[in-house]
Amino acid sequence: VASRSTISTQVAIVGGGPAGLLLSHLLRRSGIDSVVLELRDREYAIKRVRAGVLEEDAARLLTEVGLGDRLHKEGQRHDGIYLQYAGVRHHIPFRELVGRSVWLYSQQEVVKDLIEAHDAAGTPPRYSVSDMQLDNLVDGSPTVRFSQGREDFELIADFVVGADGAHGVCRPSIPETNKKTYTREYPFGWLGILAHVKPSTDELIYALHERGFAMHSMRSNSVSRLYLQVDPHENIAEWSDERIWDELDIRLGTPGWTLERGEIFDKSITPMHSFVSDPMRYGKLFLIGDSAHIVPPTGAKGLNLALADASYLHDGLAAWYGNGDERGLDEYSEKSLERVWKIQHFSTWMTRMLHRFDESGSFGQADGANPDNVDFDHHVQLGQLRQLCESERGMAHLAERYTGLPFLRYPSAE
Ligand code: DHB
Repeated sequence: VASRSTISTQVAIVGGGPAGLLLSHLLRRSGIDSVVLELRDREYAIKRVRAGVLEEDAARLLTEVGLGDRLHKEGQRHDGIYLQYAGVRHHIPFRELVGRSVWLYSQQEVVKDLIEAHDAAGTPPRYSVSDMQLDNLVDGSPTVRFSQGREDFELIADFVVGADGAHGVCRPSIPETNKKTYTREYPFGWLGILAHVKPSTDELIYALHERGFAMHSMRSNSVSRLYLQVDPHENIAEWSDERIWDELDIRLGTPGWTLERGEIFDKSITPMHSFVSDPMRYGKLFLIGDSAHIVPPTGAKGLNLALADASYLHDGLAAWYGNGDERGLDEYSEKSLERVWKIQHFSTWMTRMLHRFDESGSFGQADGANPDNVDFDHHVQLGQLRQLCESERGMAHLAERYTGLPFLRYPSAE
């Protein structure tokens, strides 16, 4: 019988994405040991293309904990966005409206900075682990069994944190009778590209067009990121570079403005859905980030939610290790979920306001039986967008939500 090596730590973190890596970083700064286990290899973690917007509080937190150098050098502060509909582009000036901004800095870069900090501290994540299994989550010492190379390990900890995303092992370790899940599927996905071309806009453009949603984002002065609403079952092979640029031209076009084209070096289609698992705790297991909730990408909240969870759970753990105060851990799930549902609302609102639903009929009434129903939802959307952009309070509401809710802190400031 092969033997298992035993490793002990205070907090076992399953998943080496931004949530798990940030939590481990924050714990280290508070003098708390943790071990991060990651299924994939380092290369994958660094190369995985994800969103690129940091809320003001997310950027502030990263800066406060020593992760702000490259963010401030290479990231770009954005003081607003454009909303476009009926062929007209409207500016929403966040900073003027609510005195806040966001930072364009991609998730890959955040992950890179975190990995570098872990390497420098001599606590690199354990990559390419397999066969993870969680035990003793309620009674005794929680353990994570796993293999790495040809060796089998048993990681014994005070707590286990599930930071392993929507398809990880942690959430399924919570018995069905101890959780309730909520989902919403969308009848479309996003075709996303990265291209070697200077952005054709100074700030992000979110556009509702008769043919569907389109968006212009960016990664740097020479890399643009663009998205198109498509059928989630669309075959990407049928989207040549030229067809993509032509469609972006149609949906993003306004008189006198040109969309510059460049070499597309990444192309993918992502389906969209919302998901929440309640509670975010089971015994000594805590869930953070995508393992507990997924938001549709419109408004770029996923990464920010994950960082907020990690920060808040850190506070609870630090209080527990500091003086045995359990309240932060006891409140973690309920308070996080209150915040999660607010952000689910924002992401759902942005998604419903900016995508065509009626063609596929899932949310609208366009079932073909009554032709009057066709386009009804679209005109309601235009009414909504007009009201929003014609009202300073409407725009301020969007600005407040987009730039982000304050991160939760324990103990809270009041
Ligand atoms: C990006 C993605 C989003 O979902 C969004 O709302 C804004 C920007 C991006 O990838 O840059």
